Amino acid sequence: KDGYWIDMLGRPLTDIRISVTDHCNFRCRYCKPKEIWDKFDAYLPHEELLNFEELYRISRIAVEHGVRKIRLTGGEPLLRKHIEDLIAKLATLRTPDGKKVDIAMTTNGSILAKKAQGLKDAGLDRLTVSLDALDEKIFQEFNDVGFPAAKVLEGIHAAREAGFEHVKVNTVVKRGINENQIVPLLEHFAGTGVIVRFIEYMDAGTSNGWRMNDVVPTSEVIRIVSERFKVTPLTPNYQSETAQRWRYGEGDDEFGCISSVTRPFCRNCSRARLSIEGAVYLCLFADRGFDIRTMLRGGASDEEIAEALGRIWTNRSNHYSELRMNGMPLPVKKVEMSYIGG
Ligand code: GTP
Ligand code: 5AD
Ligand code: SF4
Ligand code: SF4
Repeated sequence: KDGYWIDMLGRPLTDIRISVTDHCNFRCRYCKPKEIWDKFDAYLPHEELLNFEELYRISRIAVEHGVRKIRLTGGEPLLRKHIEDLIAKLATLRTPDGKKVDIAMTTNGSILAKKAQGLKDAGLDRLTVSLDALDEKIFQEFNDVGFPAAKVLEGIHAAREAGFEHVKVNTVVKRGINENQIVPLLEHFAGTGVIVRFIEYMDAGTSNGWRMNDVVPTSEVIRIVSERFKVTPLTPNYQSETAQRWRYGEGDDEFGCISSVTRPFCRNCSRARLSIEGAVYLCLFADRGFDIRTMLRGGASDEEIAEALGRIWTNRSNHYSELRMNGMPLPVKKVEMSYIGG
């Protein structure tokens, strides 16, 4: 029962991304377009969601088998009530060699200003905040609920004040919409320790109407940044890292690019995703998940759950982004980003 789980392509399970709610107060065009989501956005009854005991239990078992990093996602994870309580439980987890498990969160930052200190106190290690533009008009059209960028900036500021180091900012770049925000974002965060990461717009889910033409490839982002700053590449922090990293300017400022369209990183993908209803998804672009809630609620022992998780992972061969890149046929059905947390 000990030992790490390795999938069919030789990839160990080291990270889990837990979606704690599918609610979101934004309607980002690239994720939850209003036209579609305001019509049939039916949320699950509370008892369908995994509760904190269940989430902790799965996490503990996964950590016993090699998981070192847990990222909480949504929807918008700060909308899940008492999320600090879950964080406090997860923060007690230790790997078999005694290290604290890295607990991170990806949030839209909308209510971060009032939550940041509580998250830090609960034991959250790292924070990533999505912010696609500094320009109010562009940002408010992007989130499509008129939410001000200034408030997200307040959230980021509060996070730094609360003691989060190297807060990351995620910027999805969409052609014709926010390329002109790349340089202003880097200028804004220069000298703050905040790391901006530009993300290639992905064909996640089926509701965002993705087109290849809307993708701004990383090569172009680098060209744009290079026109303003000196840019030098950095080596990866760890093998399964999503972002490639660069220094910019004369100091030690850093930015990243996540190129899942033009330079897929499936080869090192060690991430499993857990849905709000307790299904394990083996890829961001998977068409289905593997239910484990039934086992959790049916009196299964830790060993039985570990055995099931191990079986799911060791049979994994997903590598969607590589398939797309190589022009292979793709599944038509894909899980929505706002459901599985990106
Ligand atoms: P770090 O732990 O700080 O490296 O964070 P992260 O990049 O793993 O997580 P984050 O939630 O910030 O994700 C950044 C972007 O990368 C989002 O657009 C995610 O959807 C995307 N992403 C994360 N993991 C994967 C993955 O396994 N496959 C693909 N294709 N995209 C991913
Ligand atoms: N392509 C790329 N990134 C996306 N995100 C949401 N939808 C997409 C998409 N279609 C990003 C969010 C958030 C992260 C979890 O995923 O902006 O930062
Ligand atoms: Fe935007 Fe994140 Fe909400 Fe999707 S889940 S609509 S990306 S804030
Ligand atoms: Fe992992 Fe799937 Fe993303 Fe490839 S496309 S990196 S397999 S989640």
